[in-house]
Amino acid sequence: MGGAATLMETAMLTTQDLLKEKIRSRTAKVGIVGLGYVGLPRAMEFAKAGYSVTGIDVTSRVVEALNAGRSHIQDVPTGTLRPYVDCGTFRATMDSSVIAELDTVNIAVPTPLRKTKDPDMSHIMAAAEEVARYAHPGLLVILESTIYPGTTEEVLLPLLEKKGMKVGEDFFLCFSPERVDPSNAQCQTKNIPKVVGGITPACTEMGALFYSQALDNVVAVSSTSVAEMVKLLEDTFRMVNIGLVNEMAIMCDRMGFNVWEVIDTLATKPFGYIPFYPGPGLGAHGIPIDPFHLIPKPDNRLLTPEEEVDRLRNEMRSRGESVFDRDVLPEFALG
Ligand SMILES: NC(=O)c1ccc[n+]([C@@H]2O[C@H](COP(=O)([O-])OP(=O)(O)OC[C@H]3O[C@@H](n4cnc5c(N)ncnc54)[C@H](O)[C@@H]3O)[C@@H](O)[C@H]2O)c1
Repeated sequence: MGGAATLMETAMLTTQDLLKEKIRSRTAKVGIVGLGYVGLPRAMEFAKAGYSVTGIDVTSRVVEALNAGRSHIQDVPTGTLRPYVDCGTFRATMDSSVIAELDTVNIAVPTPLRKTKDPDMSHIMAAAEEVARYAHPGLLVILESTIYPGTTEEVLLPLLEKKGMKVGEDFFLCFSPERVDPSNAQCQTKNIPKVVGGITPACTEMGALFYSQALDNVVAVSSTSVAEMVKLLEDTFRMVNIGLVNEMAIMCDRMGFNVWEVIDTLATKPFGYIPFYPGPGLGAHGIPIDPFHLIPKPDNRLLTPEEEVDRLRNEMRSRGESVFDRDVLPEFALG
């Protein structure tokens, strides 16, 4: 009798309830597409948390080495990887049809720039098309590659909806930026707060539930676009400040004093300043690249000073605030 009731209850569970239950009970089958600096540490965190993890990569050398228990990523020592390979908790494959058997898929493929400095979306498109091909009800898809705001909703969602499944009910789609800091012993994949935003509130809830099984701190935001922009603001902030301090270093050198002394002294100020240090170029591989992801859409382009003045003037006019509609405005706005 009790068994029959349980069966009936199970039959009434929604796709959402069933996936949540699999995630909580660690029976969800986890997939990671792209096994590089971002994907492999992510795979290890979920393997450590007790999930069965399948990594999918297009590079045979990477797949073969990982299946032999050898890591190619500094932050994942071979000694950490091998036990999970040996006991079958982690395996790598080039066959994306395994997605049909998975419950979650994180996409962490490269997003380099083309010669023209616009983002090369070919890896994202290739990965997303494979995920969409084998997508099924009850699948959670999370994009982790750095991309321009709007990509998850405008590029991934239509592909995944092609099979007639409804987002937030049949499948769940999120964006979650990566904040890995290679070789930083204090800030590792597990303890760096993980931002996640979904297409619908149910998607966000699912993404946050998933990450919270393996990571210490999850920060849920209201949309995929907010999560996408968080990453770009973060990297643009670092790009601007590293560039600034490099210029300061050149100036100090020319004037004959030590920029490090200047920085360390300024760092005694307890507010309004974060120390950045001079170095070659703009730092880690994503920093000089990621701010260019702001550019692809006309809405994302920064306005020229003249355009900004026009925009302000039109806005003031539309509010009937004629006091601002004076010839002095351009000089004022241009500083
Ligand atoms: N490395 C970092 O420190 C860092 C930090 C934050 C964000 N990111 C972002 O994360 C994303 C991944 O970066 P990464 O450093 O891990 O790259 P990576 O080059 O180390 O690894 C990417 C892996 O994806 C594989 N791949 C490429 N196309 C594929 C496809 N269609 N299907 C399956 N696998 C595919 C490659 O073979 C490679 O093994 C990028 O968008 C990057 O900007 C990286």
